[in-house]
Order: sequence, then structure tokens, then C-alpha cells
Amino acid sequence: MFMFQRLIIGNEIVHLAEVDSTNSYVQQLITDDVKKSEGFVVWADYQKMGRGQRGNVWLSEKGKNLTFSIFLKPNLPIHDQFLLSKIIALSITDFLDYMGLKEVKIKWPNDIYCGSKKICGLLIENSIRNNRINTSVIGIGLNVNQIEFDDHLKNPTSVSKELSIQNIPLDKLFSNLLSFIDKRYLMWKNGNRDLINNDYHKKLFWLGELKKFRINNKETEGTIEGVGLPGKLLLNIDGLTKEFDLQEIEFLI
Ligand code: BTN
Repeated sequence: MFMFQRLIIGNEIVHLAEVDSTNSYVQQLITDDVKKSEGFVVWADYQKMGRGQRGNVWLSEKGKNLTFSIFLKPNLPIHDQFLLSKIIALSITDFLDYMGLKEVKIKWPNDIYCGSKKICGLLIENSIRNNRINTSVIGIGLNVNQIEFDDHLKNPTSVSKELSIQNIPLDKLFSNLLSFIDKRYLMWKNGNRDLINNDYHKKLFWLGELKKFRINNKETEGTIEGVGLPGKLLLNIDGLTKEFDLQEIEFLI
């Protein structure tokens, strides 16, 4: 696999055998006012208390997957905070496409899917100062070599399962993934947000398809039209466009 250049993401990388959670590790550095430059990355072979979205745990078999966090200082206005999720999610799909995985999509708001299975989750934790995002901790859990998953997980998959290749070396994969994130992050820094938005929408799971959702405990059919500000899902229901937050809607996959 070719090695790509990187400018910001991964300018310093700490690789730990074990940690509670890489996101918590970076949060602690911020709390302790340890100065780190933008792009600092913490990567762990195993998380004892990996954290997922909505207070869930993130389970990942020791040494099998990529679990890491990136420290950013994006200085974005709060209303624009979802742009970070777009940049990161898109760069992960770029990478998985490059790896040859099929049907790689972004399931709004923070999951990466292959077909109808989840391969990667994001946990983005921002701190705000003067109505702007001062620091952002981008946690990424990408399933790589794991084959068996906990029963309670609905529809997990991994790079290994999708490509039918075992024991994929993590080091080079990790380095290349960071390069793809770097590329999209620089694209935004260089003012190219329209391209990011366009590419993001092209990658959106279920875009333009009539699908089933659970809204207010009721099964409802609708068609995803896109993602608006500030990161709300735009769903067309019976000819009307409605906006939803994460708590308000569930995809019935
Ligand atoms: C989700 O889909 O629920 C989000 C999962 C995020 C998991 C990653 S693994 C690295 C980082 N550290 C954590 O504790 N969580 C994130």
C-alpha cells in the first residue's frame, strides 16, 4: 500500500497498548492544559472503557481494530460544528473506497456503513469559547480485523469481513487513513467547503430513497433530501421537508 504525505493530522502520534478511552485521554490533556498542536493523535490497541455515542460503550477486541482520537482546533462558529463531522466522515469513506470496499456510505450523523452494516463510528467532543469551537476531540473506531461481534450489536462489519482478507496490518492502514483525513481537513482550511458539502451528500446513506424511520414512536416513510444547518437531517415526508435531530428519529434498517 502506498504511503501518503500528511501536513496536520498525525504530526505527533502517541501509541498506547491500553487506555480507558482515547477521547478521555485527549480530554484530560486539554483539562490539564498540556499544550498540544493541532493534529495530535492518540492511538490505543485496547480501550478498557471505549465510549460510543449517546453514552454507549464502544467495544473493540484487543489489537484488532483502529481506535484513536485526533485533537483539533478548528475555530469554527458553533452553528457550523457539523462541518467537522462531514469532513471526517467523508475522509473515512474516501479511505474505505480506496481500500476497495463496496457501498461505503455515511449514515447520518456519525456512522460509516458498508451496505447495511456499520464499520466505523465517530465520537466528536467539542469545547466552545466565544461562540466558536475552541477544541475538538475526534474519536474514531474503525473495525478492521474483528470477525466476531457482541450479540447486542445490530449490524457490525469490518474491513477484514468486507474484503475477505485476514490479519490486515494496522500500522500502514492507520497511517494512510490519517493522510485521507489530512487531505479533507486541508481542503476545508483552503476554503473548499462547497466541494466537501457536495461530496458529502453524494455519500449519504439512503439519500433520495423512500425508506422507513421511527419518528415519535411511529413508523414513518420518508426520503432523505440532505443535511441542513446545524447538522439536522432533512427528510421529505408526504411532500413536505422536515428537519430532525438525532434524538428525534431512528432509521429502520
Ligand atoms: C459510536 O458509533 O457510538 C461512536 C464510537 C466511537 C469510538 C471511538 S474509539 C476511539 C475513541 N475513543 C472512545 O472512547 N471512543 C472513540
